[in-house]
Amino acid sequence: MNDPVAPVARVASDAPVAPVVPDVSSAEMLRVALAGLLDGLPARQAAGAVERLIANYRGSTPTDAPILRDRADVAAYAAYRMPATFEAVRSALEAFVAAVPGWVPAGHVDVGGGTGAATWAVAATWEGTRPVTVLDWAEPALALGRELAAAHPALRDVRWQRARIGAALTLEPTDLVTVSYVLNELTEADRAAVVEAAAAAAQAVVVVEAGTPAGYARVIEARDRLIAAGFHIAAPCPHSAACPIVPGTDWCHFSARVSRSSLHRQVKGGSLAYEDEKFSYVAATRLPVTPAPARVVRRPQIRKGQVLLDLCEPDDQLRRRTITKRHGDLYKAARDTDWGDPWPRPE
Ligand SMILES: C[S@@+](CC[C@H](N)C(=O)[O-])C[C@H]1O[C@@H](n2cnc3c(N)ncnc32)[C@H](O)[C@@H]1O
Repeated sequence: MNDPVAPVARVASDAPVAPVVPDVSSAEMLRVALAGLLDGLPARQAAGAVERLIANYRGSTPTDAPILRDRADVAAYAAYRMPATFEAVRSALEAFVAAVPGWVPAGHVDVGGGTGAATWAVAATWEGTRPVTVLDWAEPALALGRELAAAHPALRDVRWQRARIGAALTLEPTDLVTVSYVLNELTEADRAAVVEAAAAAAQAVVVVEAGTPAGYARVIEARDRLIAAGFHIAAPCPHSAACPIVPGTDWCHFSARVSRSSLHRQVKGGSLAYEDEKFSYVAATRLPVTPAPARVVRRPQIRKGQVLLDLCEPDDQLRRRTITKRHGDLYKAARDTDWGDPWPRPE
């Protein structure tokens, strides 16, 4: 998409310094800024902080108090998780743009925004600047988000605001609300409150969760609320009817490729240069939408002379279609089609 081409500031562990790398994308700016975070931090200490955090997240959520408590926690979260949550939100936004082409949000609120991954994804999707507010209850996350955002020319004026997500949450009117990897940390009542507040405030709402059965269930819960509030589903579904997946039998999720940092390799082992972030999402809007004609909901299976596509289709049915060489150009298109793409692919 329209990634701004602009100078980047390298963020060291204390303060941002002068721009050093011209002409880079948001993803590259984020990578450099995150690498700077760990400068001077002994590798063992960084890996230890990540492992503590993973253990915390495996504990019982929702919690009564922020999990991200201090700078070491948020630096570890940002370095370890932000590239993945950034890529997942960016994929969801890309699918949204395809369904609502030409629309550019004039304002953005990122609820439970933490260190701001979704603000980076929005900046990677739509060029230009807009008023942006990040709401979170963890002050250290907001502080680090602000520090990282100094590296991106479009994010320097973001408001980093402390707020608790709950029944008392009201949002100022805005165009776009993102809720990325947050619902997992909320009670059922707070999940309802945040989605309802988002629907009341925004023209478009994008919810992203982990690509697990539980993450998908939270996305479906949000999707139902958004439809009840009068929204149309822009992506991933090709329709705004009920999801055809029988609860408990499967879950709709997608995959985004993320470059692995040296910290990742240290924590997870192995030498792969990338990993695939699995995520579930819904992008909905009050604007008119042209959703995908159908959506590829599993990795396509390429066999000799044929491609098997598992599709969610506009008559709210799941179908497997076999595209063979006899289909000519459609076969060529099927070979280039990926999990999560619309089908047929646009020209
Ligand atoms: C897993 S992080 C996701 C951060 C960011 N949205 C992303 O995609 O990388 C969850 C965030 O939700 C915030 N959060 C959780 N419960 C909250 C609550 N009740 N009120 C405000 N923020 C909350 C946490 O502090 C944390 O920053």
